[in-house]
Amino acid sequence: MKELLDQAEIIKGLGRSVFSRNLIFHKTIDSTNTHAKELARKGAPHGTLVLAEEQTAGKGRLDRKWLSPGHENLLFTILLRPALNADNIFPLTMILAVSAIDAIKEMAGLNVLIKWPNDLYVNGKKLAGILTEFSIKDGSVEYVILGLGLNVNWMPGRGDGILYAATSILAESGIRVSRNELLTGILRRFEPAYEDVLSGKIDELHSRWSELSFVIGKDVEIISIDEVTRGKVIAIDREGALILKNSMGHEIRILSGDVSLRF
Ligand code: BTN
Repeated sequence: MKELLDQAEIIKGLGRSVFSRNLIFHKTIDSTNTHAKELARKGAPHGTLVLAEEQTAGKGRLDRKWLSPGHENLLFTILLRPALNADNIFPLTMILAVSAIDAIKEMAGLNVLIKWPNDLYVNGKKLAGILTEFSIKDGSVEYVILGLGLNVNWMPGRGDGILYAATSILAESGIRVSRNELLTGILRRFEPAYEDVLSGKIDELHSRWSELSFVIGKDVEIISIDEVTRGKVIAIDREGALILKNSMGHEIRILSGDVSLRF
């Protein structure tokens, strides 16, 4: 029997977390990110959590679609109103990735890694993606929305329209985890990490996202909207940018793009 998302259980599991105060649940919605953005523009508070069983127009990065069959996976977006400057938005994506990785490890024993900038991979296959969107007004951050699509109990198969090498927690571990518990496990970890980012306590978090990033030390090709950059990844810095060394020995700092590994 499929376990449904249960708002009461989620709120209970979140306890006093800011994310328990404004949970918006939809059985079906176009995209939790699109909805969270509309709510943000209308003044929804920090901590708003938009959760759906199913999306009809799920969005990925670089104008891609995010496909996910209903009732199997996690699809949610959190709305944040951080007192940060724009340079510090990217660490928020990183701490959501680390929070999800730690919760998955605890519940299913899987070793999940980060493929910079926003993918979670296990055994060479994509398990999850994060879509980060934000608005800057008069030089400060008005809101940030972080959307996570995480394949939990879906079994990859033919005819699901998902073309890339994707997998799920169930497919990799054989364990059917509770989506309600997984969601609360992720957000309970995210909240203290978020407070640390706000107060500049970033050393430990930076070490974690560095050790979990499997692109470090690899030769990569970064494809962004207008150029392709090649080099060896030497670090992901404290602001979440990728530091590459190119064939001329020059260091290049990259803030966004799509990474492909070169062997
Ligand atoms: C990517 O891999 O390109 C990012 C995928 C992000 C998908 C999630 S699902 C929940 C939230 N709502 C969306 O429309 N997208 C994000």
